[in-house]
Amino acid sequence: MSSRAESSTPSRKRSKWDEDDPEDETVHTGQRQLNSTAGKRRVKARSPTSRSTDASPMPIDSPSGQHHASARPSYSLYVPPRTHHPTIQPARSVYCYERLNQIEEGSYGVVFRARDKETGDIVALKKLKLDEEKHGFPITALREVNALMSCRHENVVRIREVVVGDTLTQVFVVMDFIEHDLKSLLTVMPSPFLQSEIKTLMLQLLSAVAHCHSNWILHRDLKTSNLLMNNRGTIKVADFGLARRYGDPIGVGGMTQLVVTLWYRAPEILLGATTYSTAVDMWSVGCIFAELLLKEPLFQAKGEIELLSMIFKLLGPPSTSLWPDYSTLPLSKTITLPSPQPPQFRQRFHYMTTAGIDLLMSMLTYDPEQRISAEEALQHPYFNESPFPKHPDLFGSFPSAAAGEKRRKPFDSPSAPMRAADYKLLTEGELS
Ligand SMILES: Nc1ncnc2c1ncn2[C@@H]1O[C@H](COP(=O)(O)OP(=O)(O)O)[C@@H](O)[C@H]1O
Ligand SMILES: [Mg+2]
Repeated sequence: MSSRAESSTPSRKRSKWDEDDPEDETVHTGQRQLNSTAGKRRVKARSPTSRSTDASPMPIDSPSGQHHASARPSYSLYVPPRTHHPTIQPARSVYCYERLNQIEEGSYGVVFRARDKETGDIVALKKLKLDEEKHGFPITALREVNALMSCRHENVVRIREVVVGDTLTQVFVVMDFIEHDLKSLLTVMPSPFLQSEIKTLMLQLLSAVAHCHSNWILHRDLKTSNLLMNNRGTIKVADFGLARRYGDPIGVGGMTQLVVTLWYRAPEILLGATTYSTAVDMWSVGCIFAELLLKEPLFQAKGEIELLSMIFKLLGPPSTSLWPDYSTLPLSKTITLPSPQPPQFRQRFHYMTTAGIDLLMSMLTYDPEQRISAEEALQHPYFNESPFPKHPDLFGSFPSAAAGEKRRKPFDSPSAPMRAADYKLLTEGELS
């Protein structure tokens, strides 16, 4: 390959970026200046004879009368001047950042910790996996960026910008760096979170989820490894790689069942529902709530059948009264239900108050229509009884593994679902 970018910077590697490159500095500092004028007019250096093609119109009557062309504005009379449109900026280069360390290689991308060369800010860069794309920029990557941008909230990780490398497959999402993810944190914490801390974390999570849902975004992959937590007791929902808008007309074939990492997947998805909604996220929130209480994932199943079996054991098998639409789900016919038995919540969470159990059961409810919404859950009496939610400032801090310290491998949870081609639907199976 002899692309221009490569020939001008022969030493660059294709999958990472350099530390110091004076040439880059000048180029990117220049671009930065353009960026920093966002919202103002773009000012270009012009030769004395160059004509304005953007920004303010040329004066209709030139005082000197020198330029014939200046007698007319350079833009259509029917289109407002450029300043009325949002300024469109080119993406900055990844070389504006100094790479520090790799945090994690996940299912859809690699995440690095990096420093903004200009401001010194420490950030996280997620490299989107585009290598195998043959049909342009993948919809999943677009959805991720779009969802992060439309769900800005105190408890959603802040997207700063999208930057590009030298090749078309190098696209990075730049986010605030957050010290921990909850999954890793739970494995290294010497003791579980206190009830007062769990209440604070759940209120933050619910308020982020309520915000996403009110902006018509389903997250579809809520789990502890996608919840980041800083050393000031604040949770940030991350990884919108499977997020999508809901409420739009659904295409032929419905919505994919290829969502939500197995342990956090709602029963309606397991049973093949092709239309589902915000309730799938609330099931995952219920699993996260249980995980915070137990300090280990609630349903550590190896496959869909085992997962359904575990759900049936904890909730009691579904009945027509609990879930009127159960029998209409595509895969319900293939399942042999165990004999009726009562729910086991009280035995599993024996130290919880009645209100706490009630909230957990309202999230882990079979019927998506009856499952509690994030907005309703925020008002639940569990949060108003003693012990009260702890102020985030009073949370302890922990050494950050993501900032480069050695850490133990967290429990081996299954990864996010692979793409459709690799996925076999649950088609048969018997449950004891
Ligand atoms: N903004 C961030 N700050 C710090 N660590 C992060 C950040 N974003 C992601 N990570 C880490 O990288 C991991 C993978 O990122 P994620 O966005 O979940 O990617 P994937 O889609 O590959 O799962 C997370 O579990 C977390 O440990
Ligand atoms: Mg993830």
